[in-house]
Amino acid sequence: MEAAVLAVALGFLLLARGSVGDEARETEAVRQLVVRLLGPEPAADFLVSVERELATEAGLDTYKLSGGGSGIPVRVRGSTGVAAAAGLYRYLRDFCGCQVAWSGSQLRLPRPLPALLQELTEATPNRYRYYQNVCTHSYSFVWWDWARWEQEIDWMALNGINLALAWSGQEAIWQRVYLILGLTQSEIDKHFTGPAFLAWERMGNLHTWGGPLPRSWHLKQLYLQHRILDRMRAFGMIPVLPAFAGHVPKAITRVFPQVNVFQLGSWGHFNCSYSCSFLLAPGDPVFPLIGSLFLRELIKEFGTDHIYGADTFNEMQPISSDPSFLTAATAAVYEAMISVDPDAIWLLQGWLFQHQPQFWGPAQVKAVLQAVPRGRLLVLDLFAESHPVYMQTASFYGQPFIWCMLHNFGGNHGLFGALEAVNQGPRAARIFPNSTMVGTGIAPEGIGQNEMVYALMAELGWRKDPVPDLEVWVSRFASHRYGMSHPDAEAAWRLLLRSVYNCPGETYNGHNRSPLVKRPSLQINTIVWYNRSDVFEAWRLLLTAAPNLTTSKAFRYDLLDVTRQSLQELVSLFYEEARIAFMKEELDLLLRAGGIITRKLLPALDELLASDSRFLLGTWLNQARAMAVSEDEAQFYELNSLYQLTLWGPEGNIMDYANKQLAGLVADYYQPRWGLFMEALAHSLARGVPFRQHEFEKNVFPLELAFIINKKRYPSHPQGDTVDLSKKLFLKYHPQAGSL
Ligand SMILES: *[C@@H]1O[C@H](CO)[C@@H](O)[C@H](O)[C@H]1NC(C)=O
Ligand SMILES: *[C@@H]1O[C@H](CO)[C@@H](O)[C@H](O)[C@H]1NC(C)=O
Ligand SMILES: *[C@@H]1O[C@H](CO)[C@@H](O)[C@H](O)[C@H]1NC(C)=O
Ligand SMILES: *[C@@H]1O[C@H](CO)[C@@H](O)[C@H](O)[C@H]1NC(C)=O
Repeated sequence: MEAAVLAVALGFLLLARGSVGDEARETEAVRQLVVRLLGPEPAADFLVSVERELATEAGLDTYKLSGGGSGIPVRVRGSTGVAAAAGLYRYLRDFCGCQVAWSGSQLRLPRPLPALLQELTEATPNRYRYYQNVCTHSYSFVWWDWARWEQEIDWMALNGINLALAWSGQEAIWQRVYLILGLTQSEIDKHFTGPAFLAWERMGNLHTWGGPLPRSWHLKQLYLQHRILDRMRAFGMIPVLPAFAGHVPKAITRVFPQVNVFQLGSWGHFNCSYSCSFLLAPGDPVFPLIGSLFLRELIKEFGTDHIYGADTFNEMQPISSDPSFLTAATAAVYEAMISVDPDAIWLLQGWLFQHQPQFWGPAQVKAVLQAVPRGRLLVLDLFAESHPVYMQTASFYGQPFIWCMLHNFGGNHGLFGALEAVNQGPRAARIFPNSTMVGTGIAPEGIGQNEMVYALMAELGWRKDPVPDLEVWVSRFASHRYGMSHPDAEAAWRLLLRSVYNCPGETYNGHNRSPLVKRPSLQINTIVWYNRSDVFEAWRLLLTAAPNLTTSKAFRYDLLDVTRQSLQELVSLFYEEARIAFMKEELDLLLRAGGIITRKLLPALDELLASDSRFLLGTWLNQARAMAVSEDEAQFYELNSLYQLTLWGPEGNIMDYANKQLAGLVADYYQPRWGLFMEALAHSLARGVPFRQHEFEKNVFPLELAFIINKKRYPSHPQGDTVDLSKKLFLKYHPQAGSL
């Protein structure tokens, strides 16, 4: 694309920039952030201001840092609130050695505050730093209250995020719209999924499952959404609101008997009681009616910043591959948007193109991308660290795009990262011939794991070039994290970097497929891309560092996490032993290996996880309960949450996709089913009868279901000492146990 055309395209995007009049508000928002982060007294040593004119000529966010030293305040200036917050974090991280993290921030400030010898100026290489995935709202945010949201929006600001979904409360608006259209309350209740599955209802993949939504849910989410929007806007972030993508409840066909709808295929092994959504035909007069009504009601309630998300064919094969159909279906969504907001820009998740590449040939992709005027569609290249789409589509055929790291699926625990691909990816996309890249993004399905990967990606949003030396970078990451430089801890991180975090980008993804968290069978693939000895050695090194670092919350988290990973590796190794023993019909060896998994490793893992409130099923479920206004509702939310963690659907439809390693879940779900499996194998060898997987699955399902519906309450207070437990396990299981 010629530079002039690109400039026009990107010109549209600049419409969404904040105005000069907001400078005071953004300054105040960042000042309050400093107080929340550091406390009122230390905050007095920081002078924050937001000045629009600091932006580059191209309008890119910029911050300037100066001052510090004895008696001199640190001056943080930014072109927006977000830029100022990012500047503040740059200072805290690179000059004070601090870290803000999900697992516990390290904010010990050196005194006096380190001086900047000369003013430091940094501009972002791109217009946008994006955050979230539609799925993050279900896997991670679903039960959050305002206190937790506030913390996350602070994290976003400090990492310079300026574009993010603001997806809460949309069902309350949809309910209003459906009532206006003449649907009954019971028809609406039958349509919505439960809270833990709304992400897929919003993309038209699912309906009904896990519902209905209680009245109180809508009220609470509306309240939250207002606070989220206020705060995001106060920082100068652009909240992305939802728009109508074409999916409608079945009852629309009762209200409009003449309406032209298509039924899409089933999704995620759900039958048509829960999937096979209805999609309005483009060209049907009801399409603009619903699309504009929804957006009008939405804007009336929430205001707008002119960027809207909508996904019509996410993991859903369109009924026709005819480009003219795809163009019409896409144009209908866009036209409904601009009929209400002439400045609308559509944010599209590009996931579909790489998810079903056999359907989405060049003609089909072009049909979608070119149905919207250039610059009015902003595409998220969602899984760019592994399956970038921009390369095959000549930069999305001229539409601007955001290079996103997806990294995590289902909010699984499990150490994983493709750090090299992440580090190199954004620059490669930026210098791609005729690139239309306008930003970088962080788009995990679930958060609260593998923080190092997110720290790197956030930093890349403010770098023109990759980090020159990841070994140096990760060593500094460790010292910021723990508040001191410890050679063993840093060596541990370098080992993790070259092993679990060195996944070849295109080969694997962050989905934990360890036997530990999978429904047992003889077919589980235990091959990993790294040398397991590196993980065991990192475990040893963290334990040797432990006496110096036990007061660090993040260290305790990491020691637990690496011990957890080591146990996961051991489960894989003993699973292999058990499988070989079974194949060779050696009952004794099978009983031994099976016994180690089910009676030693899994109980030990549960005990270890129980020592930290961040790894408790009880903590997880209490968040869900806290959203309820009655005991019935609390149980309903818990049930939603437990289904999501395990069977996902009524019959194990997306079984264990959102697996986690939490105390309670390991002891009462993963462990009993491995117990049953090993018994079935032993029975088969002892009696000389074949082992039948489908029979085992019939028998294990009641066990899995019982875990979900048994209404057991789990503790939300930790028990035991992580360091002691880790050491005990090390002495028992580590290949070099004698060396500690
Ligand atoms: C980039 O755009 C120019 C001008 O339109 C065109 O001549 C050139 O072939 C393009 N390069 C690539 C690699 O697409
Ligand atoms: C779909 O599955 C559910 C749960 O297993 C079952 O109750 C329902 O009858 C099924 N619906 C159809 C249309 O098969
Ligand atoms: C760890 O603590 C020990 C004992 O207090 C001390 O001798 C050692 O220097 C510390 N190590 C580091 C890296 O600070
Ligand atoms: C794995 O690491 C261990 C310990 O560092 C080493 O002895 C072994 O040779 C490595 N194995 C492979 C396949 O690289």
